[in-house]
Amino acid sequence: MKVKAIDWTLLRDAAREALPAAYAPYSAYRVAAALLAEDGRVFVGVNVENASYGLTLCAERNAVTAAVAAGARSFRALVVVVPATSPASPCGACRQVLREFPPSFPVRSYAARGRALSTTTAALLPASFGPESLKTTPPRRRR
Ligand code: THU
Repeated sequence: MKVKAIDWTLLRDAAREALPAAYAPYSAYRVAAALLAEDGRVFVGVNVENASYGLTLCAERNAVTAAVAAGARSFRALVVVVPATSPASPCGACRQVLREFPPSFPVRSYAARGRALSTTTAALLPASFGPESLKTTPPRRRR
């Protein structure tokens, strides 16, 4: 079976197109993400900030939740786009959320010009805790 190559340009364009929708009135740092599902669908997410700053949601996590709501849980690639001069690397919370859906897949992060960062979800979160970790926990004995 021939596996179709990842169209990074398409993903970057999808994220770039979503970028103006980012809601970042506090940081003014816009981020958009495009997540390619195994079935070929592309889900985008943007960062959504909040007046209660800690409730801010990142573009990557919003792309994942959009995908899951549409029934997609297997992913082939993630692209993150920022209009800044250097690329954004997914934050710790997003790394853990991406880790929830194995197997590992490639992540590319683009700044305003060119490709700048290329990694994988596994490399982003080494020695991680994941869904299979829970399966190894023995049930607690009642006293
Ligand atoms: N942010 C993302 O959406 N993704 C990243 O990879 C880095 C950070 C957002 C969160 C916040 O709205 C703004 O960028 C500044 O931290």
